[in-house]
Amino acid sequence: MSPAEESTAHGNQTAKAFTLTSAMWFAFATTFGMIAAGYLVAPDFMANVEYIHFGRVRPMHVNAVLFGFVTPGLIAAAFYYIPRLLRTRLYSERLGVFSAVFWNISVAAGMAGVALGYSQGREYAELPWLVDIMIVISFGLVIVNFLMTIRRRTEPILYVSIWYAAAAVVLTACTYLLGNVVWKPDTGALAGIPDAILLWFYGHNVFGLLLSPMALAVAYYVLPIATRSPLYSHTLSLIGFWSLIIVYTHIGTHHLLQVPVPTWLKTISIVDSVAMVIPVMVFLINIWYTVKGKLGDVHADIGAKFIFTGTIYYFFVNIQGSMMALPDVQRITHFNNWVVGHAHMGVLGFAGVTALGGLYFILPRITGRPLHSRFLADFQYWLVLIGITGFSIVLTIVGLIQGQAWYNGETLYRTLPGLQPYFITRLSLGLLIMVGAYTGLYNVARSLYFNRGAAA
Ligand code: HEM
Ligand code: HEM
Repeated sequence: MSPAEESTAHGNQTAKAFTLTSAMWFAFATTFGMIAAGYLVAPDFMANVEYIHFGRVRPMHVNAVLFGFVTPGLIAAAFYYIPRLLRTRLYSERLGVFSAVFWNISVAAGMAGVALGYSQGREYAELPWLVDIMIVISFGLVIVNFLMTIRRRTEPILYVSIWYAAAAVVLTACTYLLGNVVWKPDTGALAGIPDAILLWFYGHNVFGLLLSPMALAVAYYVLPIATRSPLYSHTLSLIGFWSLIIVYTHIGTHHLLQVPVPTWLKTISIVDSVAMVIPVMVFLINIWYTVKGKLGDVHADIGAKFIFTGTIYYFFVNIQGSMMALPDVQRITHFNNWVVGHAHMGVLGFAGVTALGGLYFILPRITGRPLHSRFLADFQYWLVLIGITGFSIVLTIVGLIQGQAWYNGETLYRTLPGLQPYFITRLSLGLLIMVGAYTGLYNVARSLYFNRGAAA
């Protein structure tokens, strides 16, 4: 079936709705990020506007990238590949579009809640209680559509992308409820150390059991198709899946190595953080062998190009992350911008870039027409790549300066003048990413709704 026929047959309304959602929130999130980065250069900048002071705009930025941009982007691709891999139609396009609308209302309500000061004050779990419930319902709606489609499949074999996507949404709905302590609507928190343990169990699972598996699923789907090569090894893909589930689920305590949590819990988190090398390298060997000798094909497809770049970031973020879990290393890297650098490398460099690749890969296929502009997509690719690579370098340097100063007992404020040039550089690099996000939004909107290109 040609893309045009495919698009008419399936409608693809859900994939389209989540694609637009992701592109929109990417633009909003980078705007919030720029405001936050502005405060780090000039703390008085916009200081009179209480709704967007640093303490509010930071969680708005972080939650918008996690739940507005990256997750919906990866879900959009899943709504495309799940029916195709299962040789069936999506269970319900109507339910899918409703879930996308409800998802947007939830994220927007979360932004409004935090802007108005209703934050629950726990990192990655700031959104007010009611919004937590709405987010879980949003996941629930997506889960129903995924699982019912799987149930009605005509293809008996479940390709690894289906494993990852289904596991990611189901497990996240559960860990989100737990981590946000939804049974305590007033505080959304337990007391003391147990709260920290629970929070980071959830916090790291957002990266480990939501963004990572959803991104791997997209890579496993797109790269073999774009390079017209069979997956190198299905056995490796299953080893990667199960080792990720076994190892990644309980490394959250590596965020708390400097906190009085039980030593056995810290030990498990350190050992398994190092063991993360297994699922990551198994995936990378599998996918890089799949595309071996076909880099020309990767380069020719803008979606594949983004995704291949995401795999390179996955390599670096894993090597870095496993080292950061070693107590001797963390003595220098904790509590400073080294971690912020790692966070951007993981959430943007790996998961975000993969989400963008997924969007660009499916866009011509869900509309039945070529992209509005391949040039703009390439332009966005370079803006984001230069921006994130610059972020990684600059924030790592800032982290090392801060870490050394902290380690040597230096007074905090004395280090600040030396950091100023780096924060200005970060702000400038952020501008590239933000321009990239708005360029992407324009390109996606034109491709979806105002595309005069000939039907493919
Ligand atoms: C694959 C192996 C990985 C390992 C072993 C690892 C390890 C770590 C460690 C030890 C920290 C805590 C650092 C500290 O507080 O001193 C951390 C923080 C973080 N990681 Fe990773 N990481 C990995 C991959 C990823 C990926 C793929 C992502 C994103 C998709 C990610 C996102 C983050 C974020 C956002 C933080 C910051 C959390 C905070 O706000 O403190 N990591 N990681
Ligand atoms: C215009 C581009 C961007 C700018 C200027 C920017 C800036 C910032 C700033 C200033 C912070 C707070 C850091 C701190 O507390 O010291 C932050 C945090 C964060 N940003 Fe961004 N950001 C941008 C884009 C993105 C994108 C696109 C993503 C993900 C796809 C992302 C993911 C994150 C995460 C996960 C954190 C939390 C880091 C942590 O807790 O360690 N950012 N960002």
